Amino acid sequence: MTAKSVIAPYKIRLPQNIYFGAGSLDNLAVEAKRMQVRKALIVTDQGVFKSGLVQPVQEILSKASVSVDVFSEAEPEPTLAGLAAAAKKLSLNKYDVLIGLGGGSSIDTAKGLSVLLAFGGDEQDYIGTDKIPAPGIKLIAIPTTAGTGSEVTNVAIFSDTEKELKVGMISDNLLAKVALVDPVLTYGCPRGVTAASGIDALVHGIECYTSNKSNSFTDSVAIRAMRLISGSLKTAVNNGSDKDARSAMAEGALLAGIAFGNSSVAAVHALAYPLGARFHVSHGNANGLLLPHVMKCNVPAAPNKYADIAQILGERTDGLTTHEAAGAGINAVKTLIRDIGIPSRLSDLNIPEEALEGMAVATMDVTRLLANNPRTLTLDDVRGIWRDAW
Ligand SMILES: [Fe+2]
Repeated sequence: MTAKSVIAPYKIRLPQNIYFGAGSLDNLAVEAKRMQVRKALIVTDQGVFKSGLVQPVQEILSKASVSVDVFSEAEPEPTLAGLAAAAKKLSLNKYDVLIGLGGGSSIDTAKGLSVLLAFGGDEQDYIGTDKIPAPGIKLIAIPTTAGTGSEVTNVAIFSDTEKELKVGMISDNLLAKVALVDPVLTYGCPRGVTAASGIDALVHGIECYTSNKSNSFTDSVAIRAMRLISGSLKTAVNNGSDKDARSAMAEGALLAGIAFGNSSVAAVHALAYPLGARFHVSHGNANGLLLPHVMKCNVPAAPNKYADIAQILGERTDGLTTHEAAGAGINAVKTLIRDIGIPSRLSDLNIPEEALEGMAVATMDVTRLLANNPRTLTLDDVRGIWRDAW
């Protein structure tokens, strides 16, 4: 592993309490009591609602004498317009706690609502870094996919459909009070969602390990996350009833979330945003497709770290040069992506070649994430990555 002679200072932000493990959902009762919750709103989407995962959460809360409302219309890749409409619909109710139950979309919608229901105003007021004046309504985050990490991060991402952009609210005031990560909730996660959310988690691990903001704490957490994810994702996708694989994926995604929430993601996410905003490619599929192409471009800027990644992903690197080892890591990622059914070319998604230039220009606007990329990317570099991925 890459060693640093002087340990650089860092800051770690986390929810107050994080529970992990099969059955950890039951701790919701203890937390509801500790937080003196009387009225809660569960924020979820139609997929989770129909899968029956809302009912056990409602039952735990009801037994703890909490009155519960359910908002089950969180959008798959949530939009600012949808968030504003939801806030308007819910504005007359007073909730002590919002419970984000689902994938990143549901948890991010809950984060956005925690701000809009507490402070009102226009949703655009809170876009950007440190635009949220104080903690909003308290949040409990309960992921039902292994991927997002949103349960432990200070970020919520939305599509601005008018501008065809993905935008973020970034503030420590968005951190959940409590994260409950129960692998049992992921047992029924469909194959395609398992693959897309799982590869997103691997991208979180790889991007934060190589980010300019990486530090001693996030490196160690990211290494454990990448090991868990690379060792279990294929099994979780191909045999969803494998409890060990589901558990490893849930912990891997949680740890990757803790790591990137305290360093950052970088160019893969910067490129994925215009692909998601313009062509509605899911966040996970976009990240997975772009990952090896960004890695290839980045290797010259951080060869040792990319060589580390090859080892972490289980590749044999004995006798290889640093650059050869880094290449082995990229090949391992390509194999994994193919094995779990993530699309590997933009042309397979019917993205027209003429769209590449616009997406390259739009990528350069995601300065918040590009600043953390180990290689300083020029517009020509970004054009090259898009072409490589097409
Ligand atoms: Fe992500």
